[in-house]
Amino acid sequence: MPSKISKILGVFLFCLLTLCAALAQTPQFVPFASAQPVLSAMRDALPPELKTSSPVTADAWNNWVRSRDKEIRGRIEGGEADTLTNLLCLGVTYTKEPRILDPQKYGKDSAINSLAEKRADDLIRALAGARLSEGMLEMRVFLEKKGLSPATPDGRKKIKAYLLANLAHQRDDLNKWGAELSAKKISVYQLFKDRGISTDSNLYPDYTIERHLRQMMEKGLLTPGSVHRVAIVGPGLDFVNKSYGSDFYPPQTTQPFAVIDSLARLGLADPASVEVYTFDISPRVNRHIERARKTAAAGKPYTVQLLCTPLNQWESSFRVAFLEYWQKFGDRIGKPATRIAVPAAAAEIWNRAVTIRPGVVLRVTPVDMNVVYQTLPLAPDQQFDVVIGTNIFIYYGGLEQALARANLGTMIKPGGFLLTNELLPDTAPSKLANSLQTSVLTAPGDTEYVYGYVRQK
Ligand SMILES: C[S@@+](CC[C@H](N)C(=O)[O-])C[C@H]1O[C@@H](n2cnc3c(N)ncnc32)[C@H](O)[C@@H]1O
Repeated sequence: MPSKISKILGVFLFCLLTLCAALAQTPQFVPFASAQPVLSAMRDALPPELKTSSPVTADAWNNWVRSRDKEIRGRIEGGEADTLTNLLCLGVTYTKEPRILDPQKYGKDSAINSLAEKRADDLIRALAGARLSEGMLEMRVFLEKKGLSPATPDGRKKIKAYLLANLAHQRDDLNKWGAELSAKKISVYQLFKDRGISTDSNLYPDYTIERHLRQMMEKGLLTPGSVHRVAIVGPGLDFVNKSYGSDFYPPQTTQPFAVIDSLARLGLADPASVEVYTFDISPRVNRHIERARKTAAAGKPYTVQLLCTPLNQWESSFRVAFLEYWQKFGDRIGKPATRIAVPAAAAEIWNRAVTIRPGVVLRVTPVDMNVVYQTLPLAPDQQFDVVIGTNIFIYYGGLEQALARANLGTMIKPGGFLLTNELLPDTAPSKLANSLQTSVLTAPGDTEYVYGYVRQK
């Protein structure tokens, strides 16, 4: 009985804390006064809706910011479609056909065409099944919301056409980006500015962030125990991510936990008291983190599968350091768990698993916020010591990146940092000045960067 009472009390306390957190963390649209310096500095880059009056008026901004926020959120659907395409190409649970590792050959190579057809048939058959894994169920719900049901012959025919059209679309995008990059027509940091917003995630950026934090300590930019409040922008969800992902494990979020683990390993924060907020516009990401919190409130840990695919072309120093990071992942926030065995069809993937303590999971609070157009008005003692955002700003053009830089600057405490793996423009005023930049050579001709920005007084 006492355990039942303590469970009820635990859930009650959880609900109360969630309510308080929600009230304290309600995003608002970025006020005109905050955006104005960016809009003035980037007059030439403004969209027609903002150019109707010069200078831009508060009314024009207030209308535009709301409609842009809607448009951005509308791009999530395209990202979900990309996840479905990844499932079509890389999934191993629903088919015996080999994986399609080179979607650029679709339409040009009859073997790949026939593989795509067979995999599409197998996937649709599986989606119509009664007992679906979490990831497959999410994909079926996504299709059903578009009016595509695998339950009828007509629905199956339409889904097949949709899947193959998306694959062709992905191939065309890959070709377009390759051409634009080699012609230097677009910045690599804005490559996806017109693309659907994907929730893809993997462990590689987390390694570069830990490496960067260590170098910040060595340079005296961060001191032991100095990190109390952290925000992760766009934590994402890993499910058949495009870089060697798969579907044999359920959708999972790793970045918030990777960051807490790294901060604890480096002695920068105490995992029992650090406060971590996640800012994301994807309902799937926010719901997933909320569910993990609810489960943690009932005393259950959160298990993550830690996947990596060591490549022959990796630099040997990167290989050693990354694998060491991968082996240690979680040792400050949980303990090793039984991994989900990797199916033979995805044998190049290495996997280990960790269960994360419920107390650590409860340190993470999800907030539905678009960091380009929305903000949290924070009292000085609530501002963040560190904000981390990897593979998120690449979905935006120069104006939006400048708006995000200025906006995030208002939520970081003086002397605090923003860390990203995308270079943000300094074409507009912001409270964030360039700080330490680190890089690691991962393979010949392939360097990963982390850019640090420090909040000025
Ligand atoms: C590609 S994932 C990156 C996941 C993870 N950070 C990583 O590097 O592995 C991009 C994430 O950013 C989120 N996102 C994109 N635009 C955003 C915005 N304006 N505000 C908040 N989150 C955003 C997406 O929903 C998604 O979860």
